[in-house]
Amino acid sequence: MSKLIYLDNSATSYPKPDSVYSFMDSFFRNKGVSPGRSGFDAALEAEEVVNGTRKMLTKLFNGGSDHNRLTFSYNATDSLNLIINGLVEKGTHVVTTMLEHNSVLRPLYVLEQKGDIEVTYVPFDNDGYVNPEDIGKAIKSNTKFVIVTHCSNVLGTIQPLTEIGKICKERGVLFVVDGSQGAGSVDVDMQVSNIDVYVFTGHKCLMGPTGIGGSYVREGVHINHTRAGGTGVRSAYRAHLEEYPYRLEYGTLNLLGVAGLYAGVKWITEEGIMNIHRREMDLWEKLVSEVKKIDGVTTYCANGRENQNPVLSFNIAGFEAGDVGTMLDVDYNIAVRTGLQCAPLVHEHIGTFDMYGTVRMSIGAFTTEQEIDAAIEAIRDISRIRN
Ligand SMILES: Cc1ncc(COP(=O)(O)O)c(C=O)c1O
Repeated sequence: MSKLIYLDNSATSYPKPDSVYSFMDSFFRNKGVSPGRSGFDAALEAEEVVNGTRKMLTKLFNGGSDHNRLTFSYNATDSLNLIINGLVEKGTHVVTTMLEHNSVLRPLYVLEQKGDIEVTYVPFDNDGYVNPEDIGKAIKSNTKFVIVTHCSNVLGTIQPLTEIGKICKERGVLFVVDGSQGAGSVDVDMQVSNIDVYVFTGHKCLMGPTGIGGSYVREGVHINHTRAGGTGVRSAYRAHLEEYPYRLEYGTLNLLGVAGLYAGVKWITEEGIMNIHRREMDLWEKLVSEVKKIDGVTTYCANGRENQNPVLSFNIAGFEAGDVGTMLDVDYNIAVRTGLQCAPLVHEHIGTFDMYGTVRMSIGAFTTEQEIDAAIEAIRDISRIRN
């Protein structure tokens, strides 16, 4: 069988840089002890990697001067639950968008169904972008926060965070960004874009393993506790600690995950995030321009490389997306994601909900031009079956 062509990097980046694998192996063997709990050498060295990762990510997001406000969790979903539930009060109104992933939508639905909050879902335009003015129009006197994805995981469109942040600041509401598809993929500046909370996941463009994510919460933003547990310090206190990082960390950290994330962030920083992005976008442009020429193929958004990540959603006339995915897998050894990609409202809005979604190809840091050529050829072949 030919080598796997992996075009599912929006789900998780694969492979990881060699340095991530080797650092995780040596770190786990030599320093894989509980960090921040004890004073022996290995514990202090483990803590150094944890703190180093907090510092690197704080700098990457330009979060602020306090790296302890960069806290770790299992993934973006975990942090989004902590942030959303920690911000709402009974009667809160929340503004979000139809571009969101279920990791934002479902925590909101739960609160909405309990009658605790009211949510406005702002649509996006034909190019896949939310209009900041529509966000402004949706804000009401009881709006507590606006929550928007940095980048759509279905369409790849990078949202106008700075314009939305400006409106949030003017209107006195908090701005939370789901950075799952943005962190490590394109630059972000929490201070310039007035982002109050930026949530990330470690296993996508930050190049770490699964099971690690987190958030940066800017000073002055109050997140209520929705969990409690061990912190390793001040154990006599009955309440969970108020100060960061303990405030949003519960129990022993995923130390191996943090180590992998440390190596991943180091790698993307050395390579240059925007250098990786440019390489990926060159491949994306080729994929899009060739696929658009194929009879019977419909692409969604994908109108130009500006404010775009290397993701392409498409369908082939006469086939359900899932069947195209199976053919790509079985006949061509090409891995893609099909269906609704955990973002049902995107599909409602682009009209693919009842067609079982789309085929999504997502390019990564290690995708080659030969692989893109093979993917184009495979789509051409499949489209010929019915057209
Ligand atoms: C936009 C977006 N938000 C949130 C998530 C959830 O990330 P995780 O599964 O790592 O929690 C994803 C993952 O696919 C995503 O694409």
